Amino acid sequence: MKLIVTKDYEEMSKVAAKEISDFINSKPEAVLGLATGGTPKGLYEELIKLNKQEIVDFSNVTSINLDEYIGLSGEHEQSYRYFMDHNFFNYINIDKSKTFVPNGLADNIDLECIEYDKKIAELGGIDLQLLGIGSNGHIGFNEPAEYLYMGTHQTNLAKDTIEANSRFFKSIDEVPRKAITMGIGGIMKAKKIVLLASGENKAEVVKELVSGKITTEVPASMLQMHRDVVIVIDEAAAKFLSLHSGEYIKSSSGL
Ligand code: GLP
Repeated sequence: MKLIVTKDYEEMSKVAAKEISDFINSKPEAVLGLATGGTPKGLYEELIKLNKQEIVDFSNVTSINLDEYIGLSGEHEQSYRYFMDHNFFNYINIDKSKTFVPNGLADNIDLECIEYDKKIAELGGIDLQLLGIGSNGHIGFNEPAEYLYMGTHQTNLAKDTIEANSRFFKSIDEVPRKAITMGIGGIMKAKKIVLLASGENKAEVVKELVSGKITTEVPASMLQMHRDVVIVIDEAAAKFLSLHSGEYIKSSSGL
């Protein structure tokens, strides 16, 4: 696990953008697993700039997103398809037909999940998976639970998550209660993982992620078992890690 602590959100976004653009430059046809939420917005803005400056080229990249709310169409402003189009895809030279987000309006959600995993397999797996983290330890929408799932599946959102995500909706009643999410297995199969966290409200969970017990109650703790994880966090999110700013590389673990 490589841990990079940055001064603030802006620097976190720049460092993560460099990780990702360097990765694409070393593998122009990379399959990127992408994430939504407030945290990666700055990173997407940086990648848009790098693309405009011709420092990174998305023309051969394929993207596959982690999750989507069930019941929202891609035109709904809070759907993750809408988020990706309006915060990223519309501003870069990616081929939209090679961007995948689960269909939250599929008639048969279970079948949609099976097809999504087939799609990932057909693409040869995910090369680099980008993640945020919920303050309850969720990744994608894999919520704390007694057990976790390998593959893409439908899930009920945790109360904490509904509350946290209600800031994006007019009222809490509008927040969907269910979502489609890639499973922990799908995430762990990615060859490389880049996780971002920013702000004091993530400090507790970041400590669990980096040095806590590996438990399904903190789904992100599973990442301790991955061979190639880069965690980019700002100082506020590193508050409980007794570190200083600048680049800090934690001794590499993983299987
Ligand atoms: C959401 C998403 C996650 C995201 C997390 C944190 O519910 N499903 O992929 O990482 O919550 O979001 P934020 O970055 O807004 O704190």
